[in-house]
Amino acid sequence: MDRKGRTTRRTTSPGLVTLKKRASSQTPLSERVQKLVMSPLMAFSLAADRVGGVIRMDGGSPGHGPPRVFTRLVRTLDAKRLSVYSAPAFGSSATRKSASEYFRSRYGIEFDPEHEISITNGFTHAFRSLCDAVLNPDDMVILFAPFFPQYQQPLALAGARLRIVPTRAEDFWKPQPEQLSHALAASPSPRMVVFNYPNNPAGSFLTANDWMPLLRVLECDAEDRRRRGDSPLLLVSDDAYLPLTHSGSGDSRDSLAAVVQHTPDCSLLDSLLIICSLSKEGMAGVLTGLVGTRDSRLVQAIRISAKASVISVSALAELAVHAALSDESAELLTWARSLYAARLQRLAAGINTVCQDAMGFAPVRQIPAAGMYLYVDFSRLLGMRVPKRQAHSLRGFAEFRSAAPNLFRGAKILSSTDLAYWLLCSSRVAAAPFDGQDSCHLRFSVGLPESLVLDSDAAVDEAATSELGLQRIDAGVERIGSGIRSFAG
Ligand SMILES: Cc1ncc(COP(=O)(O)O)c(C=O)c1O
Repeated sequence: MDRKGRTTRRTTSPGLVTLKKRASSQTPLSERVQKLVMSPLMAFSLAADRVGGVIRMDGGSPGHGPPRVFTRLVRTLDAKRLSVYSAPAFGSSATRKSASEYFRSRYGIEFDPEHEISITNGFTHAFRSLCDAVLNPDDMVILFAPFFPQYQQPLALAGARLRIVPTRAEDFWKPQPEQLSHALAASPSPRMVVFNYPNNPAGSFLTANDWMPLLRVLECDAEDRRRRGDSPLLLVSDDAYLPLTHSGSGDSRDSLAAVVQHTPDCSLLDSLLIICSLSKEGMAGVLTGLVGTRDSRLVQAIRISAKASVISVSALAELAVHAALSDESAELLTWARSLYAARLQRLAAGINTVCQDAMGFAPVRQIPAAGMYLYVDFSRLLGMRVPKRQAHSLRGFAEFRSAAPNLFRGAKILSSTDLAYWLLCSSRVAAAPFDGQDSCHLRFSVGLPESLVLDSDAAVDEAATSELGLQRIDAGVERIGSGIRSFAG
């Protein structure tokens, strides 16, 4: 009926009319943002939040707690300090001096705190600011797969094009010199390359011996560019996991930066930019990033673009930098490295045993030398049928289709995303999906922050935390085992 009481004929369904009205009254989105999709890992994490009683191994939060000195420093923050913008957007002079000491002790490199260092609210803030500062639309950037998925968004917002170089399991996920050489030679000439070793997700770690042939390729490229009058390639090192090198002592001698610094006559230091994060040092809740490079003009540009998104470095981030330099922090990291090494061993052995017993394959070939992730090759499960009842509940996650458009087509495992959702529903274990060409990997995190036991608000009970973590891993393996057995049976 219309307002005068006459009957009207609907030409479309009421649902469609409402949708159309809504669409026309919505604020149009920028073309840049329309091109971004929700990260598959974030969509998966939201789905896992909705399933009860899950053992979460999909996250990137560390589970060894902050250094005690940090919690003590936080208590010194008075109301006055909390009520003001505590520092310039690139960090106070005192914090940049501490950051300079951080770079010196880890890499043996002296950066001038006035001109060569910037403090940010985490790696992600630093990387976005860097991309905005140096990339023009269509600039080429080299990434080595598998890579931290979060690189893609700042690169996409800057309009960059990606040259993705796949690394191989048989090379333990380390980039090979000929691959790098090939990627550098292709046209157009790349502007930037991102190295992330220790790597998320694969846990691969490059020693000085692995870096040397790569440096020779980079040196040749630098020489060619000088001859051609081209601008240098920017080498970015994302060192988020360097503090968690299991055999390390904190001086990072196998990092790209330390190897460049200690190689006689190496010219690459001038085009290197290091980004450190204190997140994996147990302070992820604070978000602290440290940027260091010899290129003071670049630092200035990063400071300007960083300020476009964060007006002032947070007071907590400033304290975190000072805390990271303490002996207590070094001691905590020594324990954290052994904690993650032991958990990775336990998880790897457990997964191999249940897969071997049920289906005769061992999916873990190598235990990473750093970090807190196990990257497991489940390609053997591609094509496996799952029971109809399970397939039905998996389709219940259809609302996340924009992030995982091909989720569970048919009642078969056809991708790592299918496998991750299947494991979540059938076994109540969450592991992060990573799809590669013809491969199917899940990344299991042994960070397990929910296993953290505090014996006071400032102190971690190390023995109880270790014990609880292993119990959780055993429980997770038991559940994974029953899921895998359902394929076999
Ligand atoms: C490789 C890598 N870089 C950077 C980050 C994030 O660093 P931040 O917390 O400082 O933004 C992560 C988080 O998991 C990561 O895996």
